Amino acid sequence: MDDSLLEKGDLGPVPPDQEPLPRWRAAERAIYYQIMTCLAVLFLILQYHGLLTCARPPPRARQVAGVPSYALEYAPLVWLDVQEQYFPSDIAAQVENTHPGINYTTIGDLPSLTLDNLDVLNSYGDDGKYVYLTSNIDVTTAPKWLDGVVPDSSGKTNGATSAAIIVNDHGAGLVDVFYMYFYAYNLGNTVLFQELGDHIGDWEHNMIRFQDGAPQEIWYSQHGNGEAFTYATVEKQGVRPVAYSARGSHANYAIAGTHDHTIPDLNLPAGLIQDYTSQGMIWDPAQSAYFYSYDAASASFTSADGISPTGAMRFRGQWGDEQYPDKDPRQKKFFGFYKFVSGPTGPWDKQLNRTKVCPDNGILCIVRDSLSP
Ligand SMILES: *[C@@H]1O[C@H](CO)[C@@H](O)[C@H](O)[C@H]1NC(C)=O
Ligand SMILES: *[C@@H]1O[C@H](CO)[C@@H](O)[C@H](O)[C@H]1NC(C)=O
Repeated sequence: MDDSLLEKGDLGPVPPDQEPLPRWRAAERAIYYQIMTCLAVLFLILQYHGLLTCARPPPRARQVAGVPSYALEYAPLVWLDVQEQYFPSDIAAQVENTHPGINYTTIGDLPSLTLDNLDVLNSYGDDGKYVYLTSNIDVTTAPKWLDGVVPDSSGKTNGATSAAIIVNDHGAGLVDVFYMYFYAYNLGNTVLFQELGDHIGDWEHNMIRFQDGAPQEIWYSQHGNGEAFTYATVEKQGVRPVAYSARGSHANYAIAGTHDHTIPDLNLPAGLIQDYTSQGMIWDPAQSAYFYSYDAASASFTSADGISPTGAMRFRGQWGDEQYPDKDPRQKKFFGFYKFVSGPTGPWDKQLNRTKVCPDNGILCIVRDSLSP
């Protein structure tokens, strides 16, 4: 038997009181050690990239120059519903797929529109108020651009900047950070088999109120109003609050489940109009966002990172089609409610300088310390 190979190998000298291993056994053992070493390295790599654990750790907040680090550290994560069809969308794509109209008539002689110069439209229709970004393709033919972008496994809407993060520093350590979520389409609720309140363009938001960099309270926008909670109350992943975006309507709730909501001025039996939220896919809006600071005194936006387009924030018109007239074959009316309503105004119109965490809209501001639908 020739054991010289063994003594030169990785396995060390053979103890004198043992029979030397047969050569094939030694080779087998060497291969075994190599495989185990490779597996250990692979395991460490996978774990480092978060690919091994079933419950992924919350995505790490990143740093953006000009934006307070806590605004990103505590940025909300959004669960999209399992049956969602209309995903977060690229804000610029809304401009590319529409043309501005007033009274269903296209505004002519305009420069090519981008998010940088969108506010040129404020020169039309009473400071932009009557301007509607109108779909180039008939909405009833289900144009693909309305579908938005499904977030990837890290929660990012790849190739789509789908959020705007706006910081309003009130001074004395009080800072409100608005996380504005953009969807190309809002599918309305179905009431008695009627789909009502569809519209092109959908801006929703959370707002977190910080004192000295510590989150105090958080607002969840829902239809005409919303709900406020203390930061301590809401569900979190790590330190990041969690929002549940309702299927189709994208109203933001603090918990999963079924949520009754009423259309203002219409008294329907409870449970007739419902939003649904669930843990479908997670969206991390802060990964694909524009960043702004807002100055209340001048009601103006500044690009916080130097590259976020401010024209989009200054545009005072609507981000979708004007409500189709009654005589339009696409339109349907049901007990005074319409299948299609007008697109919404942008972030500037979300009361960016608030006294409390809720919008100053005359509705009592209740900051909840327990979770409920
Ligand atoms: C839209 O058209 C109606 C009817 O012609 C007119 O009364 C109204 O002033 C127009 N609105 C705007 C903003 O031009
Ligand atoms: C902004 O809000 C603060 C309250 O936080 C208020 O004191 C201030 O007057 C407001 N500024 C404007 C321009 O409304």
